[in-house]
Amino acid sequence: MTDTLTLRTPDDWHLHLRDGAMLRAVTPETARHFARAIIMPNLVPPVVTAADAAAYRDRIMAALPEGARFQPLMTLYLTEQTDPEDLARAHESGLITAVKLYPAGATTNSASGVRDFDKVRPVLERMAEIGCPLCVHGEVTDSDIDIFDREAVFIDRVLDPIRKATPGLRVVMEHITTMQGVEYASDGGPDLGATITTHHLVINRNHILAGGIKPHYYCLPVAKREEHRLALRRAATSGDPTFFLGTDSAPHTDANKLQPCGCAGCFTAPNTLSILAHVFEEEGALDRLEAFTSLNGPRFYRLPVNEDRITLTKGAPVSYAERIVTEDGPVTLFDPGFPLLWQVQT
Ligand code: DOR
Ligand code: ZN
Repeated sequence: MTDTLTLRTPDDWHLHLRDGAMLRAVTPETARHFARAIIMPNLVPPVVTAADAAAYRDRIMAALPEGARFQPLMTLYLTEQTDPEDLARAHESGLITAVKLYPAGATTNSASGVRDFDKVRPVLERMAEIGCPLCVHGEVTDSDIDIFDREAVFIDRVLDPIRKATPGLRVVMEHITTMQGVEYASDGGPDLGATITTHHLVINRNHILAGGIKPHYYCLPVAKREEHRLALRRAATSGDPTFFLGTDSAPHTDANKLQPCGCAGCFTAPNTLSILAHVFEEEGALDRLEAFTSLNGPRFYRLPVNEDRITLTKGAPVSYAERIVTEDGPVTLFDPGFPLLWQVQT
């Protein structure tokens, strides 16, 4: 029985660190296990210019514990006013790694996102020219489309037309949740990648709604039927370089989760690697965990793989605090619902 696992240090290709007190509380949680992360720009106000990204990167660096070697990979929040030249300079200088597309109204702090996709056409064309990846929150927002169908409809109505109209545009389908997402990404060739979260490998929609509503399992895109979760598991554990880890760890205070209109997001940064080792072991794919956490992402982003290693060991159940303390209030960790036997050695 395998009970020790050594991996190149993982990266998180989709992460929310927030700002202020929350940033200070959650940044060390990711820096403990991950070398790099793609940092989501959906602050209030959002990170829209190169100057915003530079200032945010400085605040992240200031929130790192002494001696931490974590590298934030910054993104810009695409708006209908984004200046293609500001973006191109920020990418050329290495300040930003990617740009995030939120359809307006799709999720937390997406009000400044894109309403009319034709308006961002010149920016997307410039991004294709310079090879800057576009990270896409792939859900339509039409009120007549059922929330469980929004990802599949987005692929047909928005994503596929954008990709056909913009040859060479490199796209990451963020946090895919459906078999349609898996299929589209698998068939998309080298310019298309897809991130999969930890929580979508663990929960389906029953976990949110059956036997009482579980606000800590509510996130966007919302978890779908079991058959979709199984398709995500097959994709993540397949070794296919299209698929890589983007936790979408999205901390909200308990006060903001546990209210009549609660926020979307699962906070998985602290226990993600223990959960993933469990999932990959269940799927008989521990030998492919490193591809998912540490190899496929850098390959898509054309970055070197990390040279450092982390080791996980399997033993007695690991105890994670149920919640972390922040100056804004407690933040509850994602509970996978099973004992975690794999622990990262520090
Ligand atoms: O669950 C989510 N939370 N999904 C998102 O797309 C955004 C994120 C957040 O920022 O809270
Ligand atoms: Zn996100």
